[in-house]
Parts: sequence; structure tokens; C-alpha cells
Amino acid sequence: MKYVKKLFLLLLMILTVSGCGVVSQDKTSSEPAEVKASVANQSADKKILVVYFSRTGEEYGLGNITKGNTAIVAEYIAKKTGADMFEIKPATPYPDAYEPCTEIAKQELESNARPAFAANIDNLAQYDTIFIGYPIWWGAVPRVVMTFLEANDFNGKTIIPFCTHGGSGLAGTEREISDACLNAKVLSGLAIVGKSAQNDFPDVQKNVDAWLNQLGY
Ligand SMILES: Cc1cc2nc3c(=O)[nH]c(=O)nc-3n(C[C@H](O)[C@H](O)[C@H](O)COP(=O)(O)O)c2cc1C
Repeated sequence: MKYVKKLFLLLLMILTVSGCGVVSQDKTSSEPAEVKASVANQSADKKILVVYFSRTGEEYGLGNITKGNTAIVAEYIAKKTGADMFEIKPATPYPDAYEPCTEIAKQELESNARPAFAANIDNLAQYDTIFIGYPIWWGAVPRVVMTFLEANDFNGKTIIPFCTHGGSGLAGTEREISDACLNAKVLSGLAIVGKSAQNDFPDVQKNVDAWLNQLGY
């Protein structure tokens, strides 16, 4: 019975979020190889940051995980791009148990809450390009990530979203980010199926490599 309830919950999430579209386009993807190379050289001179939020504990269909799906992808992106990393940690940690966590996340989304984070980054100004990674929660960016976006100044910066998810893809979250960071340039993001970060890392690497290559890294 419990299993059926969980399956229903997941199906509901996926249905809730279907139909949302990508809003920003990565202009580098259709450029010729020479241009891509110069973008790559430029980005080598610039400071890059990977910011992410990720949860450990009970994960749907995976049991207990000690490193979150998004954290795994975030670390790989940072390694490939030579970026620094910053983890958004909620002031009040989410429950390890999956279902109670989904309930809290649902309440937060319904009330459009801005849960506090444990600590803010103190040197965001020195980064030009910021990858932002998060799990899809109820078809949206987790509210604590919204707290982080609104608490910082992204004016003039390039933001590159990536998410992990259980089937809904980016679910229009690029739009949420560009609405929260009006004067930032938000590029098209990458969506990775969360469990593949734990079970099929070579496939994750392949997808991340292709995406980074398209972006000029
Ligand atoms: C509170 C909560 C809500 C979720 N909502 C969705 C959803 O709407 N669509 C979806 O595809 N996956 C959903 N998932 C699955 C997560 O997006 C997925 O497992 C993700 O990889 C978790 O990343 P993490 O380990 O970095 O936290 C949800 C998971 C949780 C815990």
C-alpha cells in the first residue's frame, strides 16, 4: 500500500510539471568551431562558480544516499570547468525520510516560502559565470534556492542552470531563475535523471561533457 502511495506521488509530480518549456536559448550552440574555441579561451580567464543544493537521506527507488544526485553532477561540472563550488544548505535541514520531505517541500511551494539558508556566499562578486544546480521539487526550483537567488546580486552575470529530476526535466525552472535574476543572462540548462547520477555515472559524464562542449568549455 505504501509503495502504491509513493508511486502515485511520483506520477503526480511528473504530471504536475509536464508541458513547461525552455525560455532562454544558448546562443553558442549553433556557432562555428572557431567561435566556440574563443569562448572557451575567454571562459578560462574568468572565474566560474558552481552553486548547488542537494539532499541526502532516503531517495525514491534508491534507498539511503550519502551524496545527493545534484551534488554528484555539480562536482563533475566543477572538475571539468575548474570552477569553485558553493553548497546552499538550509538552516533547518530537510528530513532524511523521503515522504515527510516531499510534504514540507509541497507546503513551501504552496506558500511560496523563502526558507533560510545556513550561510551565504561572501565572494559572489568575483565570479562572472555561475552554474546553478538543484533537484526539481514539485515541478519547481526548491524554495531555499529561490532564497539564495534573491539574496544575492546576479546583475551582469551569466547563469547556467542544471537540475536532476525523476522524470520532469527542467520543468520551466530556467524561467523561475531568470525572473528572480532579472539582469543576468540565463542560458539553457541541463536536466539529468537523478538516479543515473548514482547508477550510471558514465552516462552522466557523457551528457555533461556534450553540454559543456556546446557551451564552449
Ligand atoms: C520534495 C521532492 C519533490 C520532488 N518533485 C519532483 C518533481 O516534481 N518532478 C521530478 O521529476 N522529480 C521530483 N523529485 C525527484 C528529485 O528531483 C530527484 O530525485 C533529484 O535527483 C534529487 O536530487 P538530490 O539528490 O540532489 O536532492 C522530487 C524529490 C523530492 C525530495
